[in-house]
Amino acid sequence: MNLLGFVFSLFIIGVSSKCQRCFGEDFMWGAATSAHQIEGAWNTSGKGENVWDWFTHNYPEKVRNGSNADIATDSYNKYQEDVDLLGNLGANFYRFSLSWSRILPNGTTNNINQEGVDYYLNVLKALQEKNITPIVTLYHWDLPISLHEMGGWNNPLVADYFNDYATLCYSLFGDYVKYWLTLNEPISQCYYGYGSGGHAPGYTESGTMTYMCAYTQLLAHAKAYRSYNETFRAKQNGKVGIVLVTLWYEPATESDADKQAAEWAIQWALGLFGHPIFIGNWPQMVIDRIGNLSVAQGFNTSRLPAFTETEIELIKGTYDYLGLNYYTTLLASPLLDFTDYENVTVGYGYDRNVLSSYDPSWTQSPVSWVTLFDVPAGFRAMLNWVANNFGNPPVIITENGWSTYIDLLNDTDRIQYIKGHLCSIYKAKYVDKVNLFGYAHWSLMDNFEWSSGYSEGFGLVSVDFTSPNRTRTPKASYYYYQKIIKSNCLEHCSLNN
Ligand code: NOJ
Repeated sequence: MNLLGFVFSLFIIGVSSKCQRCFGEDFMWGAATSAHQIEGAWNTSGKGENVWDWFTHNYPEKVRNGSNADIATDSYNKYQEDVDLLGNLGANFYRFSLSWSRILPNGTTNNINQEGVDYYLNVLKALQEKNITPIVTLYHWDLPISLHEMGGWNNPLVADYFNDYATLCYSLFGDYVKYWLTLNEPISQCYYGYGSGGHAPGYTESGTMTYMCAYTQLLAHAKAYRSYNETFRAKQNGKVGIVLVTLWYEPATESDADKQAAEWAIQWALGLFGHPIFIGNWPQMVIDRIGNLSVAQGFNTSRLPAFTETEIELIKGTYDYLGLNYYTTLLASPLLDFTDYENVTVGYGYDRNVLSSYDPSWTQSPVSWVTLFDVPAGFRAMLNWVANNFGNPPVIITENGWSTYIDLLNDTDRIQYIKGHLCSIYKAKYVDKVNLFGYAHWSLMDNFEWSSGYSEGFGLVSVDFTSPNRTRTPKASYYYYQKIIKSNCLEHCSLNN
């Protein structure tokens, strides 16, 4: 190479390395799924019925095309293929969940299904062989039907049954599992399942049941965390956390009212669950707002169940780390005047008081469950909000992903989404110093997307749902993500915005 060529190549390296951003060696990369969305084998090998089996079989009209998860991606039989896909991806970890009713068909510990236990042991051993760390969610929305019949998450005693189940899982799988997550996205379960009715069990009492469910789930989480502390931590030396989520909200304008609306939107999702765990008790504005509205609406007591002092202490501090899910951002304005307490309808939406909109310049998913927009800046903002409000706890991204047509193998829109979102978490970690230690993409593969059935896919891998083999085919995004994991670096990530 002549001198000019040498100088020129230095220039090229200089320019490209300017935007190259590398993560530390200990940063964990992974992919995520959940039991009900992938396993299938809904009534074989001793598994008991769960609330989603019941919901999809009895109310097929509630799911697009009347689909159900009886077979799903058939991962009960094809788990080795899934683990191989994770291995080829280069994943350091796999976030998946256990099916409560596969292990305990009636939800209670008097009847343990050994075949179910063996299945999970096999998955864990297969992961161990490939040196992939399991991050295990105990509960991802698939409540055993017998517990649903006792009132489900409206019944605070279900927290004790959850604790029994969690304790059993620690003892059965704790030698393999060092990262536990108690509950997945309680706000989604409590709102869609008990508030809007779009998810199982389909209740539409968002002004009351959504908060009952939140109350019970927080107790369930806390009891399971404490059981680990008391009985397993010394021997197993693992970590226990919970998975929380919010849509990020930016104020629609610079007005104070819009700023308040954006803050409330976050408080009614992340705050509702994070405040009791990281600070203690519900957020004060949530207590005040629901209390005032309840009185105006003729209730004797607040629709928000009050924690006793003992419960506040039980829940406070129950985390070793936090799992966070982020998908998208919306704009917020107040729905009604904040001081208007008269004639406000009973409901979570009116309590929260947020009118959502979006910026028409944002790229929108062509198929999604909700208005899913590609807004990476919201990811960084959410991570900062959590760090600032909850004392910068260790955080792992347990879900982040993009939905598009299930048969799209050349999924350039997902690649675009990943590119922007990884750059955003890089900035949160290395510029803003958020205590972030890993990232899981949702999802490893297309799967049963709850009320959307199989009409959209979040997967890095496509699954042929028309074939009995459920043939798996990696998409372009799988190879893109594989390259990032291998290099541990982002090629283009400017810190300027
Ligand atoms: C969050 C849920 O945890 C997961 O089950 C779902 O598939 C994704 N969001 C995408 O909607």
